[in-house]
Amino acid sequence: MLGYLRLQLRFLLPLAAAMVVAAYVALPLIEKLTLRWFTRDISARAALVANALHDSTIDALASRDARRLVLLFDRTAQDERVFGIGLCGSDGGVFARSNAFPATLSCADAKQTAGLGDPRITLPGGAVLISRHPLAATENSEIGLEPTPELILLHDLSFIERRSLDTRRYLIAFLATLGFVVAIITMLVAQISWRGWIAGARALLRGDVVPVGPLAVRPELAPLAEELRGRLRQLEDEYRRARGPETGWTPERLRGLLHSELRGDEIIVVSNREPYIHDRDQQGVRVRRPASGLVTAIEPVMRACSGTWIAHGSGTADRDMVDLDDRVSVPPDHPMYSLRRIWLTPEEEQGYYYGFANEGLWPLCHVAHVRPVFRESDWEAYRAVNQRFADAVVEEARTEDPVVLVQDYHLALVPALVREKLPQATILTFWHIPWPNPESFGICPWRREILLGLLGSTILGFHTKFHCKNFLETVDRFIEARIEHEHSVVAVAERETFIESYPISIEWPHPTEGEWASPADCRHAVIGRLGFPEHAIIGLGVDRFDYTKGIVERLNAVERMLEKHPNLRGRFVFVQVASPTRSTLDEYRAFQQQVERIASRINARFGSGCYQPVVLLAEHHDHGQLIELYRAADICVVTSLHDGMNLVCKEFVASRDDEQGVLVLSRFAGAAREMHEALIVNPYHVEETADAIYRAARMSSGEQRERMISLRHTVRDFNVFRWAGRMLSDAARWRLRARVEERVRKHGLPEFDGR
Ligand code: G6P
Repeated sequence: MLGYLRLQLRFLLPLAAAMVVAAYVALPLIEKLTLRWFTRDISARAALVANALHDSTIDALASRDARRLVLLFDRTAQDERVFGIGLCGSDGGVFARSNAFPATLSCADAKQTAGLGDPRITLPGGAVLISRHPLAATENSEIGLEPTPELILLHDLSFIERRSLDTRRYLIAFLATLGFVVAIITMLVAQISWRGWIAGARALLRGDVVPVGPLAVRPELAPLAEELRGRLRQLEDEYRRARGPETGWTPERLRGLLHSELRGDEIIVVSNREPYIHDRDQQGVRVRRPASGLVTAIEPVMRACSGTWIAHGSGTADRDMVDLDDRVSVPPDHPMYSLRRIWLTPEEEQGYYYGFANEGLWPLCHVAHVRPVFRESDWEAYRAVNQRFADAVVEEARTEDPVVLVQDYHLALVPALVREKLPQATILTFWHIPWPNPESFGICPWRREILLGLLGSTILGFHTKFHCKNFLETVDRFIEARIEHEHSVVAVAERETFIESYPISIEWPHPTEGEWASPADCRHAVIGRLGFPEHAIIGLGVDRFDYTKGIVERLNAVERMLEKHPNLRGRFVFVQVASPTRSTLDEYRAFQQQVERIASRINARFGSGCYQPVVLLAEHHDHGQLIELYRAADICVVTSLHDGMNLVCKEFVASRDDEQGVLVLSRFAGAAREMHEALIVNPYHVEETADAIYRAARMSSGEQRERMISLRHTVRDFNVFRWAGRMLSDAARWRLRARVEERVRKHGLPEFDGR
């Protein structure tokens, strides 16, 4: 309110000052003018009065009848404007005078004053003007006197003063009224312009694109907008730098962020793998949770945000569970969001999923020494299926600017395809696997198409800065694009994509945490079920049966450790959970057989009686079963040869609320960049990995606790809600900035490059 008043005063004070100056200049001028007009008027009247008196005065003078003259003069002086009349005789004295004519005024003085430029004198009754009128001879009478007698008229000027006072009053009243009216008009105009300006500036900041109408961006804002663009970008960079490792992310906070920063917009997730698979077996329909890092990470986010998840319906009973729109509400026991299933023919699945995605892109991006295979037919299927997913996104979108979260290498073309149909959409794409260097990526015959597809995103996320750098270098190598390394932005045909690292994580705390059996009970159960000795040291590996996971290298290290430390034979056991995956592919089948051979070899070498050092559990395990294993284990071994992040190590840490257990972690997993208290190994170096497993087996409980506490802090603080929260708040800011830029572009400003 105070600010508003101050603002109004800024308009009013100069106006008031201008009015005072105007009055100061105008009043004396007007007074002077009125006096001149009245003087001229009086002179004309004086001549008339003198003419009227002339003959009677000469007659009275001829008869030397002064009394008659006095009567004549008094009568005439009754006119309000004639103050007095006198007759100066030829002797120079006053021969006759009206009553008001001052006795002290001599003829000489009167005549002299009348001849002046300003013929005024001041008498006790007020100012008077003097005029002299010589009498001339007439036909009937002759004066015959020398010098000629003269009539002296004194004109009352007080009426001029009265009128001048009135004029001054009117003028002041007029100027005051005028000033007031002008001030009101000025205020109104200023108010309307100010409001419009502020509305325009606000709209500009919000990024609303209103080309016409009262909220359209005003031309006078155009230069400001240019400045604004640079400042916004700068502030955004500063904000991100200053934000640092934010903590305290929960599902509630994520929901709040969606509401406040993205105006409660609907979230659409699109991925190949679905979070819940309905399968049919002898007992009926069974729900299965797939072994997938992607699903582990995204599912809790979807539970927090609701919305729709579009995915391939791959279960044998999936079609039986959906409604007419191919939707089913999940989680099945407590529905919180909608799963929209996409149906693929076996040929489509073969070409798109097994072929292009898993025989081509997967080995291309994981430098795990398996040759990528690229077939034209697979590419065609990949393109067609990506189009199907993009169409489903457009169908599901209820607004023209939904927030779309595109997941992984199966759907690299989806961002650009969605962008074509929904140009205002905010598309966040997350690449869950590593991005290789440009030389490796250059092997892909459709590298340009993949890059352009991904650059339809608003934000493209990777797990690590290293992968972002590889991506930017790949773009630089293969397509025409403007790259702003400082801001991590790639622009293709003026469409910008922000490239950023968002290390993915898991849910913390886990919703079932309170139901977990104690670590002692879990150990007891596992030992009993798998027939381990009571004093067993349990090592654990949990993976999909994938050649990138370093399972062979891990088993080789276990073998080497038992070789080097015979005292652990009969005591150390290693449980490898390996969920079958992509088993129709030769590479995967061959890999599974290789692992089975190695496990048998080790068991043959070091096993005795019922002691088998390696237990291979090549079947799907649900989360509850995994938790039991994690809590029973002494050591968890993650030896990926190349891994975007790896969430097994985080799940292991999250499950160990007893602060015991040791993590052995490959330096080639993205997680190694965060989990420094693990024993970090190079899985290609068998000796080093064997020594690390041995060290873990011998580690004191105190050291385990120290390391585990620190690891748990990391996983708790950098949980999956923070991952999603960072992406979504970056998206909100990016969306705002993009809108500002869009408006600036619409108003034809030159390209701004002062970033
Ligand atoms: C892992 C990777 C994900 C990938 C998933 C695919 O979790 O980290 O990036 O999407 O495997 O597994 P799938 O069984 O769906 O082929």
